[in-house]
Amino acid sequence: MRFNRIIDANLKGKRLFIRVDMNAPIVDGVIMDNTRIKASIPTIKLALDKGAKVIVATHLGRPTEGKCSKDDSIMPVANELAKELKIQIPIISDIDDKIDFSTSRIVMLENVRCNVGEKSNSEELGKKYARLCDAFVHDAFATAHRREASTDAVGRFAKEVYAGMLMSSELDALSKVMINPKRPIIAIVSGSKVSTKLALLENLADKVDTLIVGGGILNTFLAAEGLNIGKSLCDYNMIDFAKSIINKMKTRRAAIPLPKEVVVAKECSKSSVAVTKVVAGLEVDDMILDIGVSFANDLVSKLATAGTIIWNGPMGVFELEQFANGTYIVANGIVNSQAFSLAGGGDTIAAINKFGIYDRVSYVSTAGGALLEFLEGKRLPAIDLLEQKIIQ
Ligand code: 3PG
Repeated sequence: MRFNRIIDANLKGKRLFIRVDMNAPIVDGVIMDNTRIKASIPTIKLALDKGAKVIVATHLGRPTEGKCSKDDSIMPVANELAKELKIQIPIISDIDDKIDFSTSRIVMLENVRCNVGEKSNSEELGKKYARLCDAFVHDAFATAHRREASTDAVGRFAKEVYAGMLMSSELDALSKVMINPKRPIIAIVSGSKVSTKLALLENLADKVDTLIVGGGILNTFLAAEGLNIGKSLCDYNMIDFAKSIINKMKTRRAAIPLPKEVVVAKECSKSSVAVTKVVAGLEVDDMILDIGVSFANDLVSKLATAGTIIWNGPMGVFELEQFANGTYIVANGIVNSQAFSLAGGGDTIAAINKFGIYDRVSYVSTAGGALLEFLEGKRLPAIDLLEQKIIQ
């Protein structure tokens, strides 16, 4: 992937429209997780250090365009950013007028999804945003799968377009795992339902050397092999799909390791008793809630030989201590391997935080849907834009 990077740009005196993704969870005006806000700061600081005037824009939630209320305001986000940067950040609601930078070199636009035409990628709205600036900086990787006025149309009408620091790091990490990966590639895909990871499994089955599945997806693969999985979570209508993935991998002489032992319980609760059983010996009322320790250790040996690891999903119900071992062992296997590891997805990040290994994963993506779509092999609109606006 080739694109213009903010780090190489001459920005002195220029007005920048920096699209970030500060779509943080907010409850009663309180930000519950500021990871995305913090992740956007290097670009903003760099722009200010390079002498630019900065307009920061983000969406927040999914409000109805033209009908926003106080609850949809980016105020808590702007306050958090101001606190991190230790400067005042005025909030701008009127995008029809020129922005006055006389009191501050940084301002923040009100929630872009309140503007009519944002979701539909209106040219008119894109032109309005573009008129506010000399250059558009796309740093909202978590929206890279969206084609909206503040992520796409603005860039088409802006004179110059650059990828921000976060966007650049995310795209560099993705190139490392999907475009120029070091082999062998091991992907870990887990989740409650096969149906939500269908396209991902399909694409990875064409590319990776080992596909490790976990959670409800693993149960469905075990059922596809004709095993009794008791009352475990399973997508019974996806059995044929699971069989097709197993066949695809076999034809390529690639592996889908399946456990001989699993950890089961009669129910999934804090007080349920975990028992390790051979898969062939499960009872009708057993629920698989984790992989067995010996299988987790086998996976660690495999991970130690990997050149690239893609990690999306925990191995079991790691939130409950008695079912957390499999995920813990595999997580440590990932970070102890010499491979380049890329992790993403809400549950994966929760597991990473729980085990205190955030800094030991090579790259943790800030994105959900955008990451998934890239790994599914889809073309991301943000990459289209950046590649089309290359300044030679
Ligand atoms: C996300 O949270 O994944 C991004 O901010 C995109 O949000 P959206 O799904 O509402 O477009």
